[in-house]
Amino acid sequence: MNFITIFTFVTHVVGVAATLAGSDNVNPYQNLPKCKSTPYDPSWPSEAEWASLNTSMDGTLIRTSPVASSCYTGNPFGSPRSRADVEAGWGYSTFHRTVPESVDFQRWANNSCLPPNVTDYNPEIGCQVGAYPQFVANVTSAEQVAIALSWAASRNIRVVVKGTGHDLVGRSTGAYSLSIWTHNLRSLSTDNSWPIPGTNETASVLIAGSGNVWGDALAYALSHGRAVCTGADATVGLGGFTTGGGHGPMSGTYGLAADQVLQATVVTPSGEILVTNNIQNSDLFWAIRGGGGGQFGVVTEFVLLTYPAPVDIPSASLTLSARDLHDGNAAVANLTMTAHAKLLAMLPDLMDNGIFGSGLTLSGQYAVSYGGLSSPPPGVICNLAIWSFTSTLQDFNNTISSARDKLLDSLGEDANLVSLTISGLSTTANYSAFFQGSNSSPSQASAGGLMSSRLLGRNELTGHTTEAVDSFLQRLMVSKDQDAGAFLVIGMQGGPGPRSVPAWRRGAVNPVWRDAYIHLIVESIDVNLTGKTPWQSLKEAGEWTEANIEPVWREWAPTTGAYMNEANPLNGQWQHDFYGTSYDELVKIKRKYDPAHALYVLSGVDSDFWEYDMDSGKLCQLDL
Ligand SMILES: Cc1cc2nc3c(=O)[nH]c(=O)nc-3n(C[C@H](O)[C@H](O)[C@H](O)COP(=O)(O)OP(=O)(O)OC[C@H]3O[C@@H](n4cnc5c(N)ncnc54)[C@H](O)[C@@H]3O)c2cc1C
Ligand SMILES: *[C@@H]1O[C@H](CO)[C@@H](O)[C@H](O)[C@H]1NC(C)=O
Ligand SMILES: *[C@@H]1O[C@H](CO)[C@@H](O)[C@H](O)[C@H]1NC(C)=O
Ligand SMILES: *[C@@H]1O[C@H](CO)[C@@H](O)[C@H](O)[C@H]1NC(C)=O
Ligand SMILES: *[C@@H]1O[C@H](CO)[C@@H](O)[C@H](O)[C@H]1NC(C)=O
Ligand SMILES: *[C@@H]1O[C@H](CO)[C@@H](O)[C@H](O)[C@H]1NC(C)=O
Ligand SMILES: *[C@@H]1O[C@H](CO)[C@@H](O)[C@H](O)[C@H]1NC(C)=O
Ligand SMILES: *[C@@H]1O[C@H](CO)[C@@H](O)[C@H](O)[C@H]1NC(C)=O
Ligand SMILES: *[C@@H]1O[C@H](CO)[C@@H](O)[C@H](O)[C@H]1NC(C)=O
Ligand SMILES: *[C@@H]1O[C@H](CO)[C@@H](O)[C@H](O)[C@H]1NC(C)=O
Repeated sequence: MNFITIFTFVTHVVGVAATLAGSDNVNPYQNLPKCKSTPYDPSWPSEAEWASLNTSMDGTLIRTSPVASSCYTGNPFGSPRSRADVEAGWGYSTFHRTVPESVDFQRWANNSCLPPNVTDYNPEIGCQVGAYPQFVANVTSAEQVAIALSWAASRNIRVVVKGTGHDLVGRSTGAYSLSIWTHNLRSLSTDNSWPIPGTNETASVLIAGSGNVWGDALAYALSHGRAVCTGADATVGLGGFTTGGGHGPMSGTYGLAADQVLQATVVTPSGEILVTNNIQNSDLFWAIRGGGGGQFGVVTEFVLLTYPAPVDIPSASLTLSARDLHDGNAAVANLTMTAHAKLLAMLPDLMDNGIFGSGLTLSGQYAVSYGGLSSPPPGVICNLAIWSFTSTLQDFNNTISSARDKLLDSLGEDANLVSLTISGLSTTANYSAFFQGSNSSPSQASAGGLMSSRLLGRNELTGHTTEAVDSFLQRLMVSKDQDAGAFLVIGMQGGPGPRSVPAWRRGAVNPVWRDAYIHLIVESIDVNLTGKTPWQSLKEAGEWTEANIEPVWREWAPTTGAYMNEANPLNGQWQHDFYGTSYDELVKIKRKYDPAHALYVLSGVDSDFWEYDMDSGKLCQLDL
C-alpha cells in the first residue's frame, strides 16, 4: 500500500464532536419548542400528513428501511438490497453514497443497523432505524427541496442534508429527521463566457448540480479542456466539501473550492429558491462559501471557476526515517523527530516555489498497520507525495534536492543516522492521469473515529525553535494506548493559492486559511465501544482529546484554527477554531435564514444553544 493509498484509507478511520454552551447572547430560540419533534411526540405528523407531503413532492419521499436490514432474519424493515450486496458494499463509500439513509462512518449514526461481524457489531443491538433519518427526500429539483425543507422546518422537525454521506463527523445524518438527499442533482455543463454578476467580465465556468462527486465533475470539465479545484478523492461530493472550504491538489495554486464559487442556487428553510452571488442575496452567498454544510440552506447548484488543466506534472516521493529501522538507540528516535520538525519548517518555502503535496507521519504500531513496516520504527517515518504544476522535472528535482541537502547538512554528523530520500521522480503527461494516480484504491467506509487538526502558517512552522516544534509534535503524537503510536496527515494545501484569492471571491471560509500553509491532522485515539454506546465512547474520546491534544495546538498555534471538515467537532473552542472572525456574522445569517434552527449540525453556527443526544436521539435546547 503506498502512502497516498494510506492517506485515503486513514481519512476513513477518523471521526467527531459535542458543543459547549457559552454564548453571552440571549437564546434566540426560546420561543420555540424546547425539543425537535420525534415520532413519540403528539406533534409528529400523522401518516396522512407524510403521505400528503409525498404527493406534493411527486412521490419522491422514502421511508427509511435500513439497508443492512436484509442481513437480519426476516429482513424486518424490508431493505431493497440483498444481504450479499450489503456485505460486498459495506466497506466502500461508493455503496453508502447510493443508499438513501446511509453514511460512511456508522458510529455517527449510532451503529443503528450494522451487518453482522463488521467492526462494532453487537448482536444485542440488532437493527433499528435508530439514529438514521426517519424519511429521505430523494429530490430531483430545487422545487422538491423547497417543499420538503419548508414543510419540515415549519413543523419543528430536524432536517439533515446528505450528498454522499462522506462526512467525517456525522453531519449528514441525525435521529428523527427528514433528510434531503441531493444525490440525484447531478447536472453538469460548462460555459466559457459566463457573465460574472455585477461586472462586465466573463469567466470560464462549470455549472454543477450539488449531488455530483468531484471525480465526475473533474472528468466532465477535463473533457471540455478545463480543470476544477477538487478534493484529493474522486468520491467526495461538491456539497459538503465546497460549503466547508474544500482543499485538494490545486488549492495551493488557486485557492479552496469555496473560493471558486461565482454563484450558487440555495433553497432556504422558508422554501425560497434563491440565486445567490455577489449582488443577489450576497449574505447567504457569503455564508455558503466556507461557513459550513447543512446549516444555511440546501445548495442545489454551483457555478465554479475553471482553470487550464496542468500538463507534464513532475512528482516524487520524499521519505524520512531512521537509516536503520531496527536501531533501538533512543537518540536515533529523537533524531528522526528533530529532522521531522525541520522538514515541516522547509515546507512554506517549497510551497512558495509551487511545490505541493500531502503525506503521512507514522509512529509506533501505526507504522506497522498503515506503513507496511514489520515492527515499530525508531521515532517516526514520514512520507510526502509532492508535485508541481509550474516546474519542469529538472527544476522540481533541483528544488527538492537542495532542500533535502540543506536539511541533512543542518543535522551535522548525525545526518548519517537518518535517511531522507527522494524517489519515484517522474512526469505525468496530463491532469486526468495525475488525479487518477492518487485515486487508485477505492474510497473506504469504516466505523469512524475522532481526529484533531490545525492549520499552521509560516510563523508556526518556522518561528519556533526546532526543539519547540519537535516537542509539540511529540505531545501530539501520543496515544491513549502507549504503544499504539499515532499518525499525522500532512496536507500542503494552503500557501499561495488561498492567500492570493481576490477579496470579491472570499466567502465565510475561516480567514486563517489565508495565512495557512499546512493542514495537520492527528489521529491517536481508538474509539473503544466495549460496554458503551457509540455516543458515550465518542464523547469520552472527545474529552481525552480536549485534555491531551487540543491544548497542544492552542499552545503551538493560538491564533490559527482548524479546517472544520477534517477536525474534532467535540473541540471546546469550535467557534473560534472552525469559523474564526467570520463567526459573528454567520450567526446573524443563520438566524435570518433558519430562525427555527431546523438545520442542526454538530459544531454548527449557533448550535451552542442546542444539544443532540445520540443515545436518546433527541435534539433539544440547552438550559442556559
Ligand atoms: C475519503 C475522504 C476523502 C476526503 N478528502 C478531502 C479532501 O481532499 N479535501 C477536503 O477538503 N476534504 C476532504 N474530505 C472531507 C470532506 O470535505 C468532508 O467529508 C465533506 O463533509 C464531504 O462532503 P459531502 O457532501 O461529500 O458529504 P456529506 O456527508 O453528504 O455532507 C457533508 C456535510 O455537508 C452538508 N451538505 C452536503 N451537501 C449539501 C448541499 N448541497 N447543501 C448544503 N449542505 C450540504 C451535509 O449536510 C453535511 O453537513 C474527505 C473525506 C473523505 C471521507
Ligand atoms: C411516496 O409515493 C410513492 C409513489 O406513490 C410511493 O412509491 C412511495 O412509497 C411513497 N413514499 C412513502 C414514504 O410513503
Ligand atoms: C460472525 O463471526 C462468528 C465468529 O467468527 C461466527 O461464528 C459467525 O458465524 C459470524 N456470523 C455471521 C452472521 O457471519
Ligand atoms: C443508540 O444506540 C444505543 C445502544 O448502543 C441505544 O441504547 C440507543 O437507543 C440508540 N439511540 C437511538 C436514537 O436509537
Ligand atoms: C431516487 O430517484 C431517482 C430519480 O428519480 C430514481 O432513479 C431512484 O430509483 C430513486 N431512489 C430510490 C432509492 O428510491
Ligand atoms: C459595464 O459596462 C457599462 C456600459 O459600458 C458601464 O456603464 C458600466 O459602468 C460597467 N460596469 C462595471 C461594473 O464595470
Ligand atoms: C530524547 O528526547 C527526550 C525529549 O526531548 C529527552 O528527554 C531524551 O533525553 C532524549 N533522549 C536521547 C537519548 O537523546
Ligand atoms: C535529481 O537531482 C539530483 C541532485 O542534483 C541528481 O543527483 C539526480 O540525478 C537528479 N535526478 C534526475 C532524475 O534528474
Ligand atoms: C493522459 O495521459 C495518459 C497517460 O500518459 C494517457 O493514457 C491518456 O490518453 C492521456 N489522456 C489525455 C486526455 O490526453
Ligand atoms: C476496550 O475496553 C475494554 C474494557 O475497558 C477492554 O477490555 C478492551 O481490551 C478494550 N479493547 C481495545 C481494542 O482496546
